Amino acid sequence: MKVPLVVANWKMNGTQAEAATLAREVVNGGGGIGGVEIVLAPPFTALATVSAVLRDSPIRLGAQNIHWEMSGAFTGEVGPRMVRELGCEYVIIGHSERRRLFHESDQAVGKKLVAALSVELAPIVCVGETLQERQRKKTNAVIGRQLRAALKGLGKSAIKNLAVAYEPVWAIGTGRNATPEQVAAVHLRIRDLLRRLRGQTEAEDCRILYGGSVRPDNAAELAKVPNVNGFLVGGASLKAENFLSIARAF
Ligand code: PGA
Repeated sequence: MKVPLVVANWKMNGTQAEAATLAREVVNGGGGIGGVEIVLAPPFTALATVSAVLRDSPIRLGAQNIHWEMSGAFTGEVGPRMVRELGCEYVIIGHSERRRLFHESDQAVGKKLVAALSVELAPIVCVGETLQERQRKKTNAVIGRQLRAALKGLGKSAIKNLAVAYEPVWAIGTGRNATPEQVAAVHLRIRDLLRRLRGQTEAEDCRILYGGSVRPDNAAELAKVPNVNGFLVGGASLKAENFLSIARAF
């Protein structure tokens, strides 16, 4: 049985003081939640602060992005070892906002995965279709393309350290979540693809998260869907109470 993984993606929100307060609220309120792995992914500027707050707690730290090189002339970028040094154990890679707003390609996502794993950062790689792609019945093709590119440089055993987040672009920050039937179909598809690309046992070890307008009022229903092994939560993770109630859904 996989331990569910519930990740808070705070995106570009929070001063250090606000991040520390929110992290403290999650630590204090999360004590009683057993059997779920909880990760907070604050902005880069708050990683050190949140790392200090999480130090003696079971809650883990994640980064929202990394560059694929460790160091060098890449103005404005942050390397994998730099976030590892701050205590990150996880990193979100290929979020649709990175792909769409910052032109991150499938190839860049693949390179970032290799870099993350090389410093023992567990990647959470995001895949998902736009509304137009869904309407044109391209969902499976898009997910297949994104996943193949992401796994390209990874050996068979690497995928057990990986989580895949299915985040339909039309459900992110829109208040409109995918239905349990839609989630079930895509998650099964992802599991099958992982099996075909990297083998049965390895595919079973990989956690598949759902993300896109997960809230306290829909989390329980979505958590019951087969092959849903966790959530990637944006908006609702900015309130400790809401985020913790989502984590309790497992
Ligand atoms: P949302 O964001 O929960 O606000 O829809 C999810 C995400 O972007 O990871």
